[in-house]
Amino acid sequence: MPCLFVHSSLSGKTPLYFYGRNARTAPYICPIQRVSTMGYNDGDHPATINITGLGHRFVDLAVLDDINLRIPAGTTLALLGPSGCGKSTLLRLLAGLLQPSHGQIYFGDRLIASSHLCVPPEQRNIGMVFQDYALWPHMSVAQNVDFPLQMRRVARAERHTRVAAVLERVGLSDFASRRPAELSGGQQQRVALARAIVAEPGILLFDEPLSNLDRDLRDSLCRDMARLLAQLHTTAIYVTHDRAEAGIVAQHIAYMAKGRIVELTTP
Ligand SMILES: Nc1ncnc2c1ncn2[C@@H]1O[C@H](COP(=O)(O)OP(=O)(O)OP(=O)(O)O)[C@@H](O)[C@H]1O
Ligand SMILES: [Mg+2]
Repeated sequence: MPCLFVHSSLSGKTPLYFYGRNARTAPYICPIQRVSTMGYNDGDHPATINITGLGHRFVDLAVLDDINLRIPAGTTLALLGPSGCGKSTLLRLLAGLLQPSHGQIYFGDRLIASSHLCVPPEQRNIGMVFQDYALWPHMSVAQNVDFPLQMRRVARAERHTRVAAVLERVGLSDFASRRPAELSGGQQQRVALARAIVAEPGILLFDEPLSNLDRDLRDSLCRDMARLLAQLHTTAIYVTHDRAEAGIVAQHIAYMAKGRIVELTTP
């Protein structure tokens, strides 16, 4: 199951894209192993996420410890917690950018990560949205959104239709030929959202997607995202520092502290 994976560079400005077995250590593109040209989905859509006894260490620093979570298919879990508690690390483990030190991650019935196994990102059927948008600056809006479909070798005519449909969905039909630098922050994040959903992944991961936007814009985009997530019926994990935002987008809320889940609740 190929997937687009975009990760911001250390500067946070230029996106690097990762495909292939060494995606956790080096950015490069490798040929897609299996392609879908028929529909939007890759079969098991959406997937339940099951995390059992998950832990992660960076050398001698234990960052995550005994994380146990089950996120039912088609629902959104918001992940809240203080800076440094391990939220992004958990997303990176789910995405395949890191391998767990112990424990397991299942998407549906499929084991995708443990201390012995790490299914590469492009085989996880996921989409991800970052705080800093991570758009390709040299590509137009339409080209950015089209990229995951190109990687899946979807036929040109179908790509065109799907890009137009998803741009309409996020309210950017009139901006298709602009470059990211010619858009506002909110519009750029809508492009990133469109790119994440255009291939209709079974799982969406959001890492503080609205943190760079001002309050009013954040509120309206948050409601748009919640509506979109409900329509897509995708399983999602949404990291935020904002409880109100969590209450709008998610059906479940997990609070983390010092690498552990300390509370699970509903908004
Ligand atoms: N590559 C790395 N090597 C060593 N330590 C790391 C690495 N990445 C993250 N850490 C450490 O792991 C801990 C958790 O980091 P993480 O980025 O997951 O926190 P976070 O909850 O997302 O914080 P924030 O809300 O500020 O984004 C921090 O102490 C951080 O310094
Ligand atoms: Mg983080």
